[in-house]
Amino acid sequence: MTWTKTHLVGIEDLTKEELETIFRVTAAFKGILGRSVKKVPALRGKTVVNLFLEPSTRTRVAFEVAAKRLSADVVTITGSASSVIKGETLRDTALNIQALNADILVIRHTAAGSPAYLSRLTRIPVINAGDGAHEHPTQALLDCFTMREHLGDLKGKKVTILGDILFSRVARSNIWALTKMGADVTVAGPSTLVPETFARFGVTVSHDLRSALADADVVMLLRIQHERQSSTHFPSLGEYTSMFGLNKTRASWLKPEAIIMHPGPINRGVEIDSELADSGRSVILQQVTNGIAARMAVLYLCSGGSPEVLGENEDG
Ligand code: CP
Repeated sequence: MTWTKTHLVGIEDLTKEELETIFRVTAAFKGILGRSVKKVPALRGKTVVNLFLEPSTRTRVAFEVAAKRLSADVVTITGSASSVIKGETLRDTALNIQALNADILVIRHTAAGSPAYLSRLTRIPVINAGDGAHEHPTQALLDCFTMREHLGDLKGKKVTILGDILFSRVARSNIWALTKMGADVTVAGPSTLVPETFARFGVTVSHDLRSALADADVVMLLRIQHERQSSTHFPSLGEYTSMFGLNKTRASWLKPEAIIMHPGPINRGVEIDSELADSGRSVILQQVTNGIAARMAVLYLCSGGSPEVLGENEDG
């Protein structure tokens, strides 16, 4: 197992071996989270600052819980409660957080490239918790980890990502992760949200829902990311749902053992019927739970933790 990186800016930067290392460390931490004492001293004495300048429920809480399970002190700053609204630059905010003795900076920002920019300015690890439509690396890590729990090795497994691919950082990070792991990825949806240019990432582009679902082992739904769209990409939400929403009829085109995933937040009745989101084939809440162990692994490794130490002691 190898790990030499200080920052996690995107899955694009990681090798297959590094992904495997993260999955093994995630499995080790998941084992710890199943114990009666769910805490390890790995980051004792260190301070993790979560700088969330865009709304979040799952990622923010999972990073907080992950840092606490590693015994770190945690400070969370949200957009409305930071001096960014008084005109402070992102650069100054980050350098001030570093001057306040933070040891790790987790950042979510509307602007693509913000974590990469900060990683070049700071001495401390910078972890990307989602930057614009660029990447959401820890989401892809927890998604792939969850898929591996259900499907084993992802090589040759068929994953269909359905919805607003164009504006999705989750889609981009998952495409990087899944193709590195050898999965066959199809991106599906209306041509305005799933342009042919995505084929350059080594995925199949499909606008035919039936064929995109027929042989999938996984279907991952994505919501329409209105906050990143400056023009209309389909006539109405109702028309999107009638043509591309996952409903009972369309779910019947899936193999019986196929699993349904969604990174959240779900727009029930738009990209997925409520009944399917809550069904036995949905692993949506398992994804959320796995987000804690995956983020523990990233915080641990980027702060210099040895993957071997955990690998020897844990069932990876
Ligand atoms: N999946 C995800 O990033 O959810 P949040 O926006 O709630 O963090």
